Amino acid sequence: MSTAEKRPRLTIRQAQETDAAAVREIFNEAVEDRLGTFDALPRSLQEQRRLIVAAGQDVRHPMFVAEVRNWACGVVAIEPHDERRGFEDLGEIEIFVRRSFRSYGVGRQLMRVAQTEAARLGYRKLVGYVLADNHDSLRLCAATGWRVVGTHEQHARHGNRLRDVTVVEYVVPSVSLAQ
Ligand SMILES: CC(C)(COP(=O)(O)OP(=O)(O)OC[C@H]1O[C@@H](n2cnc3c(N)ncnc32)[C@H](O)[C@@H]1OP(=O)(O)O)[C@@H](O)C(=O)NCCC(=O)NCCS
Repeated sequence: MSTAEKRPRLTIRQAQETDAAAVREIFNEAVEDRLGTFDALPRSLQEQRRLIVAAGQDVRHPMFVAEVRNWACGVVAIEPHDERRGFEDLGEIEIFVRRSFRSYGVGRQLMRVAQTEAARLGYRKLVGYVLADNHDSLRLCAATGWRVVGTHEQHARHGNRLRDVTVVEYVVPSVSLAQ
């Protein structure tokens, strides 16, 4: 009998309301690890459920969950970047991998799905905000075609500490703009 069929497979699909507890846990791990850029506070189950339902109703701002053997191990979302006119085709990425699954390639695969989806949805650019000392996240960006725009000094307030935030961007290929 082939063992290859028994190897656990990573699947990536749209988030569902039933993922709320797992996604919240994944997000709150990043908060505990002080790796969330702007959200330094843990998220409630109710808030997580609301975010998943909102993403499910908004085709331009989807949320995807990676799972192995029905266990959610990562999440990526394309969120609105700037509500002002002229910025509608820019999206902002939020990505989190469960602590015990980090550095096994889950983030890379989630990022690829978000990038493919951004191209399908006609996004021009994706933007991300990463704590300047979040090296894993910056390495993921470097490995998936993002570039560093620059660093805002003392930008994100975490309790009584101000932290530097690096801005990264990904130009979505194959969307040409009329000048
Ligand atoms: C940042 C994060 C999403 C990356 O996801 P991941 O699954 O750990 O990353 P991957 O294993 O897919 O690695 C992607 C690339 O990043 C690099 N990388 C990631 N973690 C690394 C580590 N610990 N050491 C060295 N390189 C690393 C590698 O270059 C890798 O490229 P490769 O596939 O060519 O080896 C994940 O670590 C995470 O959730 N961290 C906490 C939350 C967070 O920081 N979110 C982002 C907020 S902006």
